[in-house]
Amino acid sequence: MYRFFFRLVFRRMDPERAHHLAFRWIRLAARVPVLRTYVAAVLAPRHKALRTEAFGLRMHGPFGLAAGFDKNAVAIDGMAMLGFDHVEIGTVTAAPQPGNPRKRLFRLVEDGALINRMGFNNEGSAAVAARLAARRETFRTTVGVNIGKTKVVPETEAVADYVTSTERLAGHADYLVVNVSSPNTPGLRDLQATEALRPLLTAVREAADRTVTGRRVPLLVKIAPDLADADVDAVADLAVELGLDGIIATNTTIAREGLGLRSGPELTAQTGGLSGAPLTTRSLEVLRRLYARVGDRITLVGVGGIQDAEDAWRRILAGATLIQGYSAFIYEGPFWSRSLHRGLAERLAASPYATLAEAVGAEHREAAAR
Ligand SMILES: Cc1cc2nc3c(=O)[nH]c(=O)nc-3n(C[C@H](O)[C@H](O)[C@H](O)COP(=O)(O)O)c2cc1C
Repeated sequence: MYRFFFRLVFRRMDPERAHHLAFRWIRLAARVPVLRTYVAAVLAPRHKALRTEAFGLRMHGPFGLAAGFDKNAVAIDGMAMLGFDHVEIGTVTAAPQPGNPRKRLFRLVEDGALINRMGFNNEGSAAVAARLAARRETFRTTVGVNIGKTKVVPETEAVADYVTSTERLAGHADYLVVNVSSPNTPGLRDLQATEALRPLLTAVREAADRTVTGRRVPLLVKIAPDLADADVDAVADLAVELGLDGIIATNTTIAREGLGLRSGPELTAQTGGLSGAPLTTRSLEVLRRLYARVGDRITLVGVGGIQDAEDAWRRILAGATLIQGYSAFIYEGPFWSRSLHRGLAERLAASPYATLAEAVGAEHREAAAR
Protein backbone atom coordinates (compact mmCIF):
# COMPACT_ATOMS: atom_id res chain seq x y z
CA MET A 1 0.00 0.00 0.00
CA TYR A 2 2.76 2.46 0.95
CA ARG A 3 4.73 1.41 -2.15
CA PHE A 4 1.70 2.20 -4.28
CA PHE A 5 1.32 5.56 -2.55
CA PHE A 6 5.05 6.23 -2.92
CA ARG A 7 4.88 5.57 -6.66
CA LEU A 8 1.75 7.65 -7.06
CA VAL A 9 2.62 10.67 -4.93
CA PHE A 10 6.08 10.89 -3.39
CA ARG A 11 8.03 9.63 -6.40
CA ARG A 12 6.62 12.43 -8.55
CA MET A 13 7.56 15.08 -5.99
CA ASP A 14 10.93 16.65 -5.36
CA PRO A 15 12.50 14.38 -2.68
CA GLU A 16 13.09 17.19 -0.21
CA ARG A 17 9.49 18.43 -0.57
CA ALA A 18 8.21 14.89 -0.09
CA HIS A 19 10.34 14.62 3.05
CA HIS A 20 8.89 17.84 4.49
CA LEU A 21 5.35 16.77 3.65
CA ALA A 22 5.68 13.33 5.26
CA PHE A 23 7.44 14.92 8.19
CA ARG A 24 4.56 17.36 8.70
CA TRP A 25 2.04 14.51 8.73
CA ILE A 26 4.08 12.58 11.27
CA ARG A 27 4.34 15.62 13.53
CA LEU A 28 0.64 16.38 13.25
CA ALA A 29 -0.39 12.80 14.02
CA ALA A 30 1.88 12.79 17.06
CA ARG A 31 0.12 15.88 18.41
CA VAL A 32 -3.34 14.27 18.54
CA PRO A 33 -3.47 12.03 21.64
CA VAL A 34 -6.01 9.44 20.41
CA LEU A 35 -4.42 9.22 16.99
CA ARG A 36 -0.87 8.84 18.26
CA THR A 37 -1.88 6.15 20.73
CA TYR A 38 -3.64 4.26 17.94
CA VAL A 39 -0.80 4.68 15.43
CA ALA A 40 1.77 3.60 18.00
CA ALA A 41 -0.29 0.54 18.93
CA VAL A 42 -0.45 -0.51 15.27
CA LEU A 43 3.03 0.48 14.10
CA ALA A 44 5.13 0.10 17.19
CA PRO A 45 4.13 -3.04 19.06
CA ARG A 46 6.78 -3.88 21.65
CA HIS A 47 8.57 -7.21 21.79
CA LYS A 48 9.84 -7.94 25.29
CA ALA A 49 12.58 -10.18 23.91
CA LEU A 50 14.09 -7.23 22.06
CA ARG A 51 14.65 -5.05 25.12
CA THR A 52 18.13 -3.69 24.88
CA GLU A 53 20.69 -1.99 27.04
CA ALA A 54 23.39 0.14 25.51
CA PHE A 55 25.92 2.34 27.31
CA GLY A 56 23.91 2.12 30.49
CA LEU A 57 20.61 3.13 28.82
CA ARG A 58 17.61 0.84 28.71
CA MET A 59 15.68 0.84 25.44
CA HIS A 60 12.54 -0.88 24.15
CA GLY A 61 14.57 -2.39 21.32
CA PRO A 62 17.76 -2.00 19.31
CA PHE A 63 16.41 -0.13 16.31
CA GLY A 64 16.73 3.61 15.92
CA LEU A 65 16.36 6.42 13.44
CA ALA A 66 19.72 7.48 12.04
CA ALA A 67 20.84 11.11 12.14
CA GLY A 68 19.79 13.52 9.41
CA PHE A 69 16.07 12.78 9.33
CA ASP A 70 15.10 14.96 12.29
CA LYS A 71 17.88 17.52 12.18
CA ASN A 72 16.23 20.03 14.49
CA ALA A 73 14.54 17.74 17.04
CA VAL A 74 11.04 18.65 15.93
CA ALA A 75 9.56 15.16 15.58
CA ILE A 76 11.07 12.93 18.26
CA ASP A 77 7.68 11.74 19.52
CA GLY A 78 6.42 11.27 15.98
CA MET A 79 9.33 9.00 15.14
CA ALA A 80 8.93 7.10 18.41
CA MET A 81 5.26 6.68 17.50
CA LEU A 82 6.41 4.98 14.28
CA GLY A 83 8.42 2.45 16.25
CA PHE A 84 11.95 3.78 16.42
CA ASP A 85 13.40 2.74 19.77
CA HIS A 86 15.82 5.62 19.74
CA VAL A 87 15.95 8.80 17.70
CA GLU A 88 19.24 10.45 16.84
CA ILE A 89 18.64 14.11 16.11
CA GLY A 90 21.01 16.36 14.15
CA THR A 91 23.52 16.85 12.83
CA VAL A 92 23.42 20.09 14.78
CA THR A 93 26.18 22.67 14.33
CA ALA A 94 27.16 25.41 16.78
CA ALA A 95 25.76 28.16 14.54
CA PRO A 96 22.62 27.90 12.40
CA GLN A 97 23.26 27.37 8.69
CA PRO A 98 21.18 26.89 5.53
CA GLY A 99 23.12 23.97 4.07
CA ASN A 100 23.92 23.64 0.39
CA PRO A 101 21.77 25.12 -2.36
CA ARG A 102 18.91 22.95 -3.62
CA LYS A 103 18.61 20.55 -5.36
CA ARG A 104 20.59 18.50 -2.86
CA LEU A 105 18.70 15.25 -2.31
CA PHE A 106 18.29 12.60 -5.03
CA ARG A 107 16.41 9.31 -5.14
CA LEU A 108 18.03 6.37 -6.90
CA VAL A 109 14.84 4.33 -6.91
CA GLU A 110 16.22 1.44 -8.95
CA ASP A 111 19.00 1.04 -6.42
CA GLY A 112 16.95 1.58 -3.27
CA ALA A 113 19.38 4.40 -2.54
CA LEU A 114 19.67 8.13 -1.95
CA ILE A 115 22.38 10.65 -2.66
CA ASN A 116 22.42 13.75 -0.49
CA ARG A 117 24.56 16.83 -0.20
CA MET A 118 22.38 18.59 2.35
CA GLY A 119 25.42 20.13 4.07
CA PHE A 120 24.13 20.17 7.67
CA ASN A 121 21.15 22.48 7.16
CA ASN A 122 20.01 23.09 10.74
CA GLU A 123 18.82 25.73 13.16
CA GLY A 124 21.98 25.67 15.26
CA SER A 125 22.76 24.34 18.72
CA ALA A 126 21.18 27.19 20.71
CA ALA A 127 17.78 26.80 19.03
CA VAL A 128 17.83 23.01 19.17
CA ALA A 129 18.86 23.07 22.84
CA ALA A 130 15.95 25.38 23.63
CA ARG A 131 13.56 23.04 21.81
CA LEU A 132 14.86 19.99 23.66
CA ALA A 133 14.62 21.82 26.98
CA ALA A 134 10.97 22.66 26.30
CA ARG A 135 10.06 19.17 25.09
CA ARG A 136 7.41 17.24 27.00
CA GLU A 137 7.82 13.65 25.97
CA THR A 138 4.74 11.67 25.10
CA PHE A 139 6.62 8.46 24.30
CA ARG A 140 9.53 7.25 26.36
CA THR A 141 12.36 7.12 23.90
CA THR A 142 16.11 7.51 23.87
CA VAL A 143 17.35 10.72 22.29
CA GLY A 144 20.81 10.85 20.77
CA VAL A 145 22.24 14.21 19.79
CA ASN A 146 24.61 14.24 16.81
CA ILE A 147 26.90 17.27 16.48
CA GLY A 148 29.08 18.50 13.63
CA LYS A 149 31.21 21.45 12.54
CA THR A 150 29.72 24.74 11.36
CA LYS A 151 30.74 25.15 7.71
CA VAL A 152 32.24 28.65 7.94
CA VAL A 153 34.39 27.76 10.94
CA PRO A 154 37.94 26.96 9.84
CA GLU A 155 39.30 23.51 10.66
CA THR A 156 41.78 25.04 13.11
CA GLU A 157 38.81 26.16 15.23
CA ALA A 158 36.79 22.98 14.83
CA VAL A 159 37.34 21.80 18.40
CA ALA A 160 35.93 25.02 19.88
CA ASP A 161 32.92 24.74 17.57
CA TYR A 162 32.12 21.19 18.74
CA VAL A 163 32.69 22.25 22.36
CA THR A 164 30.13 25.05 22.02
CA SER A 165 27.53 22.58 20.74
CA THR A 166 28.43 20.13 23.50
CA GLU A 167 27.98 22.76 26.20
CA ARG A 168 24.55 23.64 24.87
CA LEU A 169 23.28 20.18 24.02
CA ALA A 170 24.90 17.55 26.25
CA GLY A 171 22.45 18.20 29.08
CA HIS A 172 19.56 17.27 26.78
CA ALA A 173 21.21 14.22 25.25
CA ASP A 174 20.80 10.62 26.38
CA TYR A 175 23.92 10.10 24.30
CA LEU A 176 26.11 12.42 22.25
CA VAL A 177 27.64 11.69 18.84
CA VAL A 178 30.63 13.45 17.32
CA ASN A 179 30.06 13.33 13.59
CA VAL A 180 33.29 13.52 11.63
CA SER A 181 32.11 11.55 8.64
CA SER A 182 29.63 13.50 6.53
CA PRO A 183 31.03 14.10 3.04
CA ASN A 184 29.22 17.41 2.56
CA THR A 185 31.20 19.72 4.84
CA PRO A 186 34.62 20.41 3.32
CA GLY A 187 37.43 19.03 5.47
CA LEU A 188 35.14 17.40 8.03
CA ARG A 189 36.26 13.87 7.33
CA ASP A 190 39.91 14.83 7.88
CA LEU A 191 38.95 15.01 11.55
CA GLN A 192 38.83 11.19 11.50
CA ALA A 193 42.63 11.09 11.43
CA THR A 194 43.72 10.16 14.96
CA GLU A 195 45.93 13.26 15.35
CA ALA A 196 42.83 15.41 14.85
CA LEU A 197 40.31 13.07 16.45
CA ARG A 198 42.14 12.64 19.75
CA PRO A 199 42.08 16.33 20.80
CA LEU A 200 38.51 16.70 19.47
CA LEU A 201 37.06 13.77 21.39
CA THR A 202 39.02 14.66 24.51
CA ALA A 203 37.71 18.24 24.45
CA VAL A 204 34.11 17.13 23.84
CA ARG A 205 34.35 14.59 26.69
CA GLU A 206 35.67 17.28 29.03
CA ALA A 207 33.00 19.76 27.94
CA ALA A 208 30.24 17.18 28.50
CA ASP A 209 31.58 16.33 31.98
CA ARG A 210 31.93 20.01 32.87
CA THR A 211 28.40 20.84 31.73
CA VAL A 212 26.48 17.81 32.93
CA THR A 213 27.07 16.78 36.50
CA GLY A 214 25.24 13.92 38.16
CA ARG A 215 25.40 11.58 35.17
CA ARG A 216 27.94 10.71 32.54
CA VAL A 217 26.69 11.43 29.03
CA PRO A 218 27.72 8.54 26.76
CA LEU A 219 29.95 9.74 23.92
CA LEU A 220 30.14 8.11 20.49
CA VAL A 221 31.89 8.86 17.23
CA LYS A 222 30.37 8.28 13.78
CA ILE A 223 32.70 7.16 11.02
CA ALA A 224 32.67 6.94 7.22
CA PRO A 225 32.58 3.71 5.21
CA ASP A 226 35.32 5.14 3.01
CA LEU A 227 38.04 4.84 5.64
CA ALA A 228 40.84 2.47 4.74
CA ASP A 229 40.88 -0.64 6.94
CA ALA A 230 43.99 0.56 8.78
CA ASP A 231 42.19 3.82 9.62
CA VAL A 232 39.16 1.92 10.91
CA ASP A 233 41.54 0.04 13.22
CA ALA A 234 43.18 3.29 14.30
CA VAL A 235 39.82 4.84 15.24
CA ALA A 236 38.88 1.66 17.11
CA ASP A 237 42.12 1.75 19.11
CA LEU A 238 41.70 5.44 19.86
CA ALA A 239 38.13 4.87 21.03
CA VAL A 240 39.33 2.22 23.47
CA GLU A 241 42.20 4.41 24.65
CA LEU A 242 39.91 7.38 25.30
CA GLY A 243 37.20 5.31 26.96
CA LEU A 244 34.61 6.22 24.36
CA ASP A 245 31.20 4.60 24.77
CA GLY A 246 30.47 3.75 21.18
CA ILE A 247 31.24 3.92 17.49
CA ILE A 248 28.56 4.37 14.84
CA ALA A 249 29.42 2.66 11.57
CA THR A 250 28.70 4.05 9.06
CA ASN A 251 27.79 7.34 7.47
CA THR A 252 27.13 7.67 3.70
CA THR A 253 29.76 6.86 1.09
CA ILE A 254 31.36 9.00 -1.60
CA ALA A 255 32.16 5.81 -3.56
CA ARG A 256 30.19 4.93 -6.69
CA GLU A 257 32.35 2.32 -8.38
CA GLY A 258 31.86 -1.37 -7.72
CA LEU A 259 28.50 -0.90 -6.02
CA GLY A 260 26.52 -2.30 -8.96
CA LEU A 261 24.46 0.88 -9.31
CA ARG A 262 21.71 0.59 -11.90
CA SER A 263 20.55 4.21 -11.95
CA GLY A 264 21.82 6.39 -14.78
CA PRO A 265 24.77 8.79 -14.57
CA GLU A 266 22.49 11.84 -14.19
CA LEU A 267 21.84 10.45 -10.70
CA THR A 268 24.93 8.44 -9.80
CA ALA A 269 27.25 11.31 -10.81
CA GLN A 270 25.63 13.69 -8.32
CA THR A 271 28.06 14.90 -5.69
CA GLY A 272 27.24 13.81 -2.16
CA GLY A 273 26.89 10.85 0.13
CA LEU A 274 25.25 7.68 -1.11
CA SER A 275 23.07 5.74 1.32
CA GLY A 276 20.70 2.79 1.19
CA ALA A 277 21.01 -0.70 -0.27
CA PRO A 278 24.35 -0.26 -2.11
CA LEU A 279 25.99 0.61 1.21
CA THR A 280 25.04 -2.64 2.97
CA THR A 281 28.15 -4.66 2.22
CA ARG A 282 30.74 -2.03 3.13
CA SER A 283 28.94 -0.91 6.29
CA LEU A 284 28.73 -4.50 7.47
CA GLU A 285 32.41 -5.01 6.69
CA VAL A 286 33.42 -1.95 8.72
CA LEU A 287 31.26 -3.09 11.63
CA ARG A 288 32.79 -6.57 11.54
CA ARG A 289 36.26 -5.13 11.51
CA LEU A 290 35.48 -2.87 14.45
CA TYR A 291 34.07 -5.72 16.53
CA ALA A 292 37.07 -7.90 15.72
CA ARG A 293 39.23 -5.10 17.12
CA VAL A 294 37.27 -3.88 20.16
CA GLY A 295 34.99 -6.83 21.04
CA ASP A 296 32.54 -5.85 23.74
CA ARG A 297 34.74 -3.11 25.19
CA ILE A 298 32.86 -0.53 23.15
CA THR A 299 29.24 -0.48 22.02
CA LEU A 300 28.87 -0.60 18.26
CA VAL A 301 25.99 0.88 16.33
CA GLY A 302 25.39 -0.61 12.86
CA VAL A 303 23.94 1.65 10.18
CA GLY A 304 24.13 1.79 6.40
CA GLY A 305 21.92 -0.05 3.95
CA ILE A 306 19.78 -1.91 6.47
CA GLN A 307 16.69 -2.88 4.47
CA ASP A 308 14.99 -5.57 6.48
CA ALA A 309 15.11 -7.78 9.55
CA GLU A 310 17.70 -10.08 7.98
CA ASP A 311 20.11 -7.16 7.47
CA ALA A 312 19.48 -6.03 11.02
CA TRP A 313 20.05 -9.52 12.44
CA ARG A 314 23.31 -9.85 10.49
CA ARG A 315 24.54 -6.58 11.99
CA ILE A 316 23.77 -7.87 15.46
CA LEU A 317 25.63 -11.12 14.84
CA ALA A 318 28.52 -9.07 13.42
CA GLY A 319 28.75 -7.01 16.61
CA ALA A 320 26.13 -4.25 16.68
CA THR A 321 24.23 -3.67 19.92
CA LEU A 322 22.13 -0.98 18.28
CA ILE A 323 21.11 -0.61 14.66
CA GLN A 324 19.84 2.40 12.77
CA GLY A 325 18.27 3.17 9.43
CA TYR A 326 17.23 6.07 7.27
CA SER A 327 17.02 5.44 3.49
CA ALA A 328 14.90 2.28 3.59
CA PHE A 329 12.32 4.17 5.63
CA ILE A 330 11.78 6.44 2.61
CA TYR A 331 11.11 3.44 0.38
CA GLU A 332 9.37 1.12 2.82
CA GLY A 333 7.23 3.61 4.73
CA PRO A 334 5.59 3.62 8.15
CA PHE A 335 5.31 -0.18 8.53
CA TRP A 336 9.03 -0.64 8.13
CA SER A 337 9.97 -0.56 11.75
CA ARG A 338 7.13 -2.90 12.69
CA SER A 339 8.22 -5.57 10.21
CA LEU A 340 11.83 -5.14 11.22
CA HIS A 341 11.03 -5.66 14.91
CA ARG A 342 8.82 -8.63 14.19
CA GLY A 343 11.46 -10.24 11.97
CA LEU A 344 14.16 -9.66 14.55
CA ALA A 345 12.06 -11.19 17.33
CA GLU A 346 11.41 -14.24 15.13
CA ARG A 347 15.09 -14.64 14.31
CA LEU A 348 16.06 -14.35 17.95
CA ALA A 349 13.45 -16.93 18.97
CA ALA A 350 14.73 -19.35 16.30
CA SER A 351 18.37 -18.80 17.28
CA PRO A 352 20.40 -20.51 19.98
CA TYR A 353 20.67 -17.21 21.88
CA ALA A 354 18.44 -16.46 24.85
CA THR A 355 18.75 -12.67 24.54
CA LEU A 356 19.73 -10.12 21.92
CA ALA A 357 22.76 -9.24 24.04
CA GLU A 358 23.95 -12.84 23.69
CA ALA A 359 23.62 -12.63 19.90
CA VAL A 360 25.77 -9.50 19.64
CA GLY A 361 29.03 -10.47 17.93
CA ALA A 362 28.12 -14.19 17.97
CA GLU A 363 29.50 -14.81 14.49
CA HIS A 364 33.00 -13.93 15.70
CA ARG A 365 32.80 -16.37 18.63
CA GLU A 366 31.43 -19.10 16.38
CA ALA A 367 34.21 -18.55 13.84
CA ALA A 368 36.79 -18.77 16.63
CA ALA A 369 35.25 -22.00 17.98
CA ARG A 370 35.38 -23.68 14.56
C1 LIG B 1 19.21 12.94 3.45
C2 LIG B 1 20.20 12.42 4.44
C3 LIG B 1 20.72 13.27 5.40
C4 LIG B 1 21.64 12.81 6.33
N1 LIG B 1 22.12 13.66 7.27
C5 LIG B 1 22.98 13.20 8.21
C6 LIG B 1 23.44 14.06 9.23
O1 LIG B 1 23.06 15.22 9.32
N2 LIG B 1 24.31 13.54 10.13
C7 LIG B 1 24.73 12.24 10.10
O2 LIG B 1 25.51 11.83 10.96
N3 LIG B 1 24.29 11.40 9.14
C8 LIG B 1 23.42 11.85 8.22
N4 LIG B 1 22.97 11.00 7.25
C9 LIG B 1 23.50 9.61 7.21
C10 LIG B 1 22.57 8.62 7.92
O3 LIG B 1 22.47 8.93 9.28
C11 LIG B 1 23.11 7.19 7.75
O4 LIG B 1 24.35 7.09 8.39
C12 LIG B 1 23.27 6.80 6.29
O5 LIG B 1 22.21 7.31 5.51
C13 LIG B 1 23.34 5.29 6.10
O6 LIG B 1 22.14 4.68 6.54
P1 LIG B 1 20.96 4.24 5.52
O7 LIG B 1 21.62 3.45 4.41
O8 LIG B 1 20.02 3.44 6.36
O9 LIG B 1 20.35 5.49 5.02
C14 LIG B 1 22.05 11.45 6.30
C15 LIG B 1 21.51 10.58 5.35
C16 LIG B 1 20.59 11.05 4.43
C17 LIG B 1 20.02 10.09 3.42
